[in-house]
Amino acid sequence: MDFTTPPSSLIAPALARPGIQDLGGSLIREVANAGMGRADLLAFWFGESDQSTPQFIREAAIESLASGETFYSQNLGRPWLRQAIAQYLQRLHGRDFDVERIAAVASGDVGLMLTCQLLLSPGDRVVAVTPVWPNPLEMARILGAQVERVPLQVRGGRWTLDLDQLLQALTPGTRMLILNSPNNPTGWTLEAAAVAPLLAHCRRHGIWVLSDDVYERLVYDPAQASAPSLLRLAEAEDRIISVNSCSKAWLMTGWRMGWMVVPQALQADLSKVIEYNFSCIFEPIQRAAAVALTQGEAHVAQLRAGLADSRQRLVQALRAIPGVQVPDAGGAMYAFFRLEGQSDSLTLAKRLVREAGLGLAPGNAFGPEGQGWLRWCHATADHARLLEGVRRLEAFVQTAASG
Ligand SMILES: Cc1ncc(COP(=O)(O)O)c(C=O)c1O
Repeated sequence: MDFTTPPSSLIAPALARPGIQDLGGSLIREVANAGMGRADLLAFWFGESDQSTPQFIREAAIESLASGETFYSQNLGRPWLRQAIAQYLQRLHGRDFDVERIAAVASGDVGLMLTCQLLLSPGDRVVAVTPVWPNPLEMARILGAQVERVPLQVRGGRWTLDLDQLLQALTPGTRMLILNSPNNPTGWTLEAAAVAPLLAHCRRHGIWVLSDDVYERLVYDPAQASAPSLLRLAEAEDRIISVNSCSKAWLMTGWRMGWMVVPQALQADLSKVIEYNFSCIFEPIQRAAAVALTQGEAHVAQLRAGLADSRQRLVQALRAIPGVQVPDAGGAMYAFFRLEGQSDSLTLAKRLVREAGLGLAPGNAFGPEGQGWLRWCHATADHARLLEGVRRLEAFVQTAASG
């Protein structure tokens, strides 16, 4: 008898647990997989700049690596990096942040997951302002939470949050609000006037806020250093976790570097979940992050001006196409728009790849509220490429209208 190869009927299917099997795959990837490798394709589907990390940031990592900084470091990050983050936040928000409240984490994405691991139990009720980049919502679901959505609306040609609707959804017993401002994909940005009532309501009911601040520096208004932030008004003990990242404002998407600001009482438990997830961040990356935060303001100013300019050019060109709707927005790096008569984002995005050589993200990748919409990332200084993309879209619309 052959004991090494049991009959396949005796082997249980090698599957993940049901909650994981139920997770959705990325629809942006689905479109990108259909078009990647096509030489003539103009792709604007992913949320990153076409420029690599500024040289002065790269050099900090190179020096660190060359000098042999290749060892484990502290769970919460090196003290000099946490200090640099605290000072950066103090400059930005005009108030003190105790270093004890700060942790360096292996990307914004990881910061979102750590927050869910720290706070969520099966059955917890989570409310999210949507449409939104799906990761934190799926993470909450991985932990067994139920997510309810409060959709943004287009009012007076602008993405708007109905604050009363959000407060009503934040019922007593709600465990956590997920708020991303400036928002990916719409660019909606929380109004400064909404911060105090939102904070007061969450305080009253003991609701945690997961504030996804990765686009906070990318606001189009040059008079604002960053988007209105809960961190500006909140007390150190408030139930607020801010998750941030070096990815967007310092063009460090591939580095996987971010940080969290938490109430001090959470620090010891955060340290534990970091230990059990990734232990610590590679030191050359911490060196690069410290340099980005201490010496990167000129770069950020330049990036912001470039994004405001590319957004303005893109939106103006898109609005010149009959049947295109592009609401106004305060920040991030996307135009979220729709074409009259097109109601299925995924089909449309795939057709644009195939028939127009144009790669955009389907709006329903960000939830059902995004169905019928498309997201265009304009983080490029190559305006000719951007406008050639618009030309392709226009030709597609004309062919569709005449066909
Ligand atoms: C809204 C939002 N939050 C968080 C992230 C995570 O950024 P990273 O993991 O690169 O730090 C992204 C990335 O696209 C994002 O769009």
